[in-house]
Amino acid sequence: GLMDQLHDTSALRKQLVAVLGIAQVIIVPGNSERHQGVLSLMGQQLDELLQLLLPGGRSIIAVMGGTTMAAVSKSLSPSLANERNLLFVPARGGLGETMAIQANTICAEMAEHSGGLYRNLYVPEDISAKSVAPLLQEPVVKSVLDLINHADVVIHSIGRARTMANRRNMTSSEIDLLTRKKAVAEAFGDFLDAQGHVVYKVPKIGLQISDLHDISHVIAIAGGPSKAAAIAAYMKVAPHQTTLITDEAASEMILRGK
Ligand code: BG6
Repeated sequence: GLMDQLHDTSALRKQLVAVLGIAQVIIVPGNSERHQGVLSLMGQQLDELLQLLLPGGRSIIAVMGGTTMAAVSKSLSPSLANERNLLFVPARGGLGETMAIQANTICAEMAEHSGGLYRNLYVPEDISAKSVAPLLQEPVVKSVLDLINHADVVIHSIGRARTMANRRNMTSSEIDLLTRKKAVAEAFGDFLDAQGHVVYKVPKIGLQISDLHDISHVIAIAGGPSKAAAIAAYMKVAPHQTTLITDEAASEMILRGK
């Protein structure tokens, strides 16, 4: 029955907090890989969490891209920006993905659903280090980078290394390196092995995992049993103030040590 389910989830939650060593875990029932509705539940949890965490007045919210972020952005409620001045910014520069799941797009979506404002970061993909340097001095880029550095909240997902390498069209020699180094997870453009060591970094501008320690609220959203190993690996380096929003299927798999 429902009471059993609630009870199960709260027991799971306590175990996961202990195993992952982060401040808070929120688990929604079900498997988001099987039912799209489970992602909406995760989105609703995100909305409630933001309602709780954000004080009145101005907050800067930095967001990453991906299909999870795109799905949960639709659950932000229009009342979120009531009495609040919310500004959404992309946490990192262009990540070479299809438009619908780029951080810039997620920003705009989240702002639209919550009644907030957004800024975009205009830095093309595949640009040389030499060309990026002067671009960083451009006021339109620099002002957004300053906002990112003052973010009050960061919202991001976690990917599987292999999936992300394919999605970003990495070369076969890069993919070989990831295999050799046993990469299992990807977050913020960093590829991590099961111990949480960074084994490959996609050179990008914006937030790094190491910058997260200074940010008041960090929200990671990732579900589905196939992401269990990726979630567990990333949590080895996640800052303590992280809240993980996940589903029951991923939670059970993480606890089984998969
Ligand atoms: C990418 C982010 O866009 O999405 C990554 O840059 C993240 O940091 C990934 O790990 C997760 O994607 P998805 O589609 O599994 O939510």
